[in-house]
Amino acid sequence: MAQTSIVKVTTAPAQQSFNPIIEGLKAESTVTPVKFDPEKHLAFTPPSEIIQMKDIGYGEHIGISPVAVSQPFPLFTKEAVEQMRAEILNPKVMEEHGVQSNIAACQIRGYASKYAPFAYDAWNHPATLEIVSKIAGVELTPVIDYEIGHINLSVKSDKETQEELAAISRQKRYFAEDEGIAGCPWEDDKPVVGWHEDSYPFVCVLMLSDCTNMVGGETALYTGDRKNILKVRGPQMGCAVVMQGRYIAHQALRALGAKERITSVTSFRPKDPTLADDAVLSTIRGISDVAEVYYQYGEYRLEILEERIRAKLKAIRRQHAAGRKFDERSFKAFLQEQEKFLQATDKEVVEYENVVPGHIAWLDLPNAVVGDDAANGSVANGNSHPVKRVKT
Ligand SMILES: [Fe+2]
Repeated sequence: MAQTSIVKVTTAPAQQSFNPIIEGLKAESTVTPVKFDPEKHLAFTPPSEIIQMKDIGYGEHIGISPVAVSQPFPLFTKEAVEQMRAEILNPKVMEEHGVQSNIAACQIRGYASKYAPFAYDAWNHPATLEIVSKIAGVELTPVIDYEIGHINLSVKSDKETQEELAAISRQKRYFAEDEGIAGCPWEDDKPVVGWHEDSYPFVCVLMLSDCTNMVGGETALYTGDRKNILKVRGPQMGCAVVMQGRYIAHQALRALGAKERITSVTSFRPKDPTLADDAVLSTIRGISDVAEVYYQYGEYRLEILEERIRAKLKAIRRQHAAGRKFDERSFKAFLQEQEKFLQATDKEVVEYENVVPGHIAWLDLPNAVVGDDAANGSVANGNSHPVKRVKT
């Protein structure tokens, strides 16, 4: 069984002192690769709740769907998770695609098309897309190949894990002895990923680790007025959460008491080219193979424009053939919309020399507190907790 020793930082050194311990994370080379089969590998059960944008204070005009975030739901079988883990833990993936940034200690990006045929097929399969689209309330497609399986890793030594578990158990005991009065949340100022809005409209976050003993590991979301925090429970192994992350400030909280936490985040955009595509590259430009991402982004943005122009051309030809007077106002509105679309595309393609490696645009908001159950599953007042500013 091969063992990886380090993740090579291919993009940039971290600007913060995180603790990306990858030693000990073992590649599961004993897993025999199989082909993705939706009959065998999907284990979908609908989420218990889908929280709407309006439920957390976002206007109805915000986003491409009324859906904010789902509760965790089973998506893939154990065998599927084993396949995906084996692909990620291939030492070549770590060496060639491991990255660090100012807001996250260890990530793997852009690996699936070359190294992860199972994950690549799983996320592109119509049956998987149907599930994710149904929960999101809009038909979705993976935004670009590069974003199939962005991996967040947090791995600890046995000693650290044991210390955390002991501290959690001590805290629970104090809490019980003092009827909760002395109980304070387990504070931690280093989230796995700091506050940010995603670059792309929707994400599906899949848990690839065993979370049985985990405390924390939730996704914290700010409400529209930035005064309250909602925590959505982290998914168990094989389970997923769907979120409209482009429009909601959120952070992934650290998981305590778990030796490792590996999540796979796949990003989506609307399949319908006539819907708004507000994708930006601000959270991914500095942690990507920029030329490859620019190509994939440029290609799909031009495809959208191509589809829109073909549809408009067809419409004006049809109207003309029917003897209708040319609708100049509608035509001008179309042109202006496409101008904005092209300007937005242009803005995202920053010249190579101006891209800051390892830098992600992040938000200066107080961190959510790990282990504070008060905010779980409901909107709680974020100002009532001890809060810490994100370090710069
Ligand atoms: Fe995110």
